[in-house]
Parts: sequence; structure tokens; C-alpha cells
Amino acid sequence: MKRCRICDGPVRETLDLGRQPLSDAFIDPTAPPGPDGEFFFRLGVGACESCTMVQLVEAVPRERMFHHDYPYRSSRSDRMREHFERTARTLLDGVRAGPDPFVVEIGCNDGAMLAAIDTAGVRSLGVDPSGRAAAVAARNGLRVRTDFFEESSAASIRAAEGPADLIYSANTISHIPYLGSVFRGVDRLLAPDGLFVFEDPYLGDILDRSAFDQIIDEHFYFFTVRSVRATARRFGFELVDVERLPVHGGEIRCTVARAGRRPPAPAVAALLAREDALGRTSGPAFRGLATAARRIRDDLLTLLRTLRADGRRVVGYGATAKSATVLNYCGIGPGLVPFVCDSTPEKQGRLTPGSHLPVRPPAAFSDPYPDYAVLFAWNHAQEIMMKEQAFHAAGGRWILYVPDVHLV
Ligand code: SAH
Ligand code: TMP
Ligand code: ZN
Repeated sequence: MKRCRICDGPVRETLDLGRQPLSDAFIDPTAPPGPDGEFFFRLGVGACESCTMVQLVEAVPRERMFHHDYPYRSSRSDRMREHFERTARTLLDGVRAGPDPFVVEIGCNDGAMLAAIDTAGVRSLGVDPSGRAAAVAARNGLRVRTDFFEESSAASIRAAEGPADLIYSANTISHIPYLGSVFRGVDRLLAPDGLFVFEDPYLGDILDRSAFDQIIDEHFYFFTVRSVRATARRFGFELVDVERLPVHGGEIRCTVARAGRRPPAPAVAALLAREDALGRTSGPAFRGLATAARRIRDDLLTLLRTLRADGRRVVGYGATAKSATVLNYCGIGPGLVPFVCDSTPEKQGRLTPGSHLPVRPPAAFSDPYPDYAVLFAWNHAQEIMMKEQAFHAAGGRWILYVPDVHLV
């Protein structure tokens, strides 16, 4: 049996999504293939029987995922930019009381959130190992340390900049297997009354929506109130507030303080009770997800093969990291989905990992419109459907696959 990366307890594997490529390793078809070809690993998930933390059973070395050319860009979504602006306004209200407040963002990427903090006039520093994304933030006048946040980098930030009143992170803490080092880093860097706030996909929403595509190499942990509270306590902190967020298909925002500094808000106990009542981390919950994944795979393949047989044109929309899990788990290649549109210049002209669908700019979508489009970026459905209203008006239909395969 595998051991928990946080508490060393036994982790029982409950869901196996098979051999998968790195979800953001888009292939440059013009570059000569490397000597080892594409990197694959086995994507399996289990829950720790001791602390309940749900986690991957195999960790991919961090430098293989988060390197200079990591292609994800937070700023591609207008809705996420608005989300960060709103978040900055809310969080900074509590930070601005002191004379020279200081905010650190873990995983700042291209600076979508840092920009909002900067606009508010608060001193900030982003930390992110993805050099090209960090350079975008730096070009916009934001301060970024191109580095992994962990105990050692946190200590050197503390020495150079003083304590942080707020350490904020979105869609990054769940990406970090070495969470112990992160919490020790937070311990070194955070002011005595400071807050550590992070938001990541919520396991409850993943199970509710059968969103098995949230399981990718980069998403190492799947948080619940119970597992985050146990983790925080282990490192001398307390989970003092939780909030569910509608972004990215359902997330949880966790607010963590040093133990004994703040009483937990009622929301913590309320959501914990709900999780326990629903058996969120139990074996049956995962068996349900495994069954749903197989059903979605069968239904999606049947639909795509029928459409092909009927001579319908189908393309993909959103070359998301999540799409790697769906495409490779279902064995979908360019024969069923000839290309996928994506607004990220760093992904365009490349091939999706493992499945090798060409990624083309959104302009290719209307040239001419296909009959059907598989919405791999289903977490941005509202924004994308609004942008591409003309597709639907022209008779085009979206194919969604969570919580089940259906047409919109
Ligand atoms: N916060 C942004 C970006 C999320 S993508 C958003 O919500 O849109 C995850 C980011 O975490 C990537 O840019 C990756 O380079 C970064 N990352 C991964 N491990 C990290 C670590 N240990 N410290 C800081 N950033 C990290
Ligand atoms: P994400 O689900 O990890 O945020 O990735 C979303 C992907 O979809 C990203 O590659 C950008 C792309 N995208 C578009 O192509 N058009 C859009 O309107 C939006 C919001 C995202
Ligand atoms: Zn554990």
C-alpha cells in the first residue's frame, strides 16, 4: 500500500485512470522528438485511511510540470480576472489595517491576482517557477520570484521582505505534494496574526459532478474540510474559515491561521458535518466516480463514432489540462476530434499530450463552424458559450460530458 504524503498513513487506491501523459506537455510538431519520447505515468487516486487526504498515488517530479515553458495562463479567462479582482478587494480589506502590509502569492502565474493587489496599492510578491508566465507579470511591473514556494524560499523571502500579513494562493496548493514544506514555509513567513488563504478544487464538487477529468498530474491533492483541517493542525495551524466558490467547476477557499489566534467560523463545522453525512472520503464515493468515468467514456465514444458515421463535423473547444485525462482515458485521437481550439498562444500550433489533437486558435472555430463542439473547458462554459453565441445560433451544438454526456 502507498503511504500518505502528509501523515505517512496508509493510502488505499480507489480509482485508476491508467497511463497518462503530463497534462500540460503540449507537443511542438516541428521540433525533433526527444530521446525518451513523451513522458507517461500512471494516474491513480486514493484516500489516506488516517488523515483522509485524497491524493494521487504517483507524484510526477515537479520540474517536469512547472518549468520555464509551462503554458497555462490565468489571464486567458475574463471571468477569472474578475474573480481575482473581487477576491483582492475582499481579502485586502482585512490586511490594510497595518502600516506597510505585505502580501505573498504562491503560484502567481502571469499575475492576474498580483495586478489586482498592486492596483490596491499593497506591497506584494509573487512566487512561481514558471519563468515565461512570471516574465509576463514582471513586464507588467509586478514583483515575482521565479521559484518554488517551500520552506527554504519562504525563509529567504522573510529575511529580505519581512513577515507577510497574507499569503494567498489559487489553484496551486493542491498541486504541491510536499505540503509539509509549504506549511513550514508559511510558518516562517507569516506574521503572527497573518492569514494563509488558498482556493482549490473541492472534492465534494468533483464527486457531485462526476468530474473525473479534474484528476490530472498537476492536481495532486483533492481537498475536503476534514482533510485540510487535519493537515493544518499537523503543522501548528487551524482552519478558521471555508467558503465554496463557483469557479473552475466548484472550489473551496480555505482560510488558515496560526493555532489559537482566531476562533473558527461556523462555516467550518457546517461544511464538515455535511461532508461526513455524505461520506465524502469513503470507498463507495470513489467507486461511484469510477463507475461514472466508465459510463462517460462509453457514452462519449458512442456519440463521437455515431457523429463521424453520420458525416458530422466535430471539433474540441479548450485545450485544458483536464482534457488530457478525458482524451487519453477514452482513447480519443484526431480521427474522432480533428482539432481543438484554444485562445492560449503558447498552446496553439502544438499537439495535445498523448492524444495528439492539433491546437488551433479560436478563429479556426468559425471557419466554418462545425456541427458539434466538445467543450473540454466546461468550467468556463458560461464565458465561452457567450463568446461563441453565433455557433449555437447557426445550429451548432455543444457536447458536454459532466455530469454525463449531453448536448446543449
Ligand atoms: N494562481 C493561478 C495559476 C494556477 S496554475 C490561477 O489560479 O490561475 C498553477 C501555478 O502554480 C503554475 O503557474 C505553477 O508554475 C505554479 N506552481 C507549482 N508549484 C509551485 C510552488 N511550489 N510554488 C509556487 N508556485 C508553484
Ligand atoms: P482551465 O480550465 O485550466 O482554466 O483552462 C482553460 C483553457 O481554455 C485554457 O487553455 C484557455 C482556454 N480558453 C479559451 O480557449 N477560450 C476562453 O474563452 C476561455 C475562458 C478559455
Ligand atoms: Zn494522511
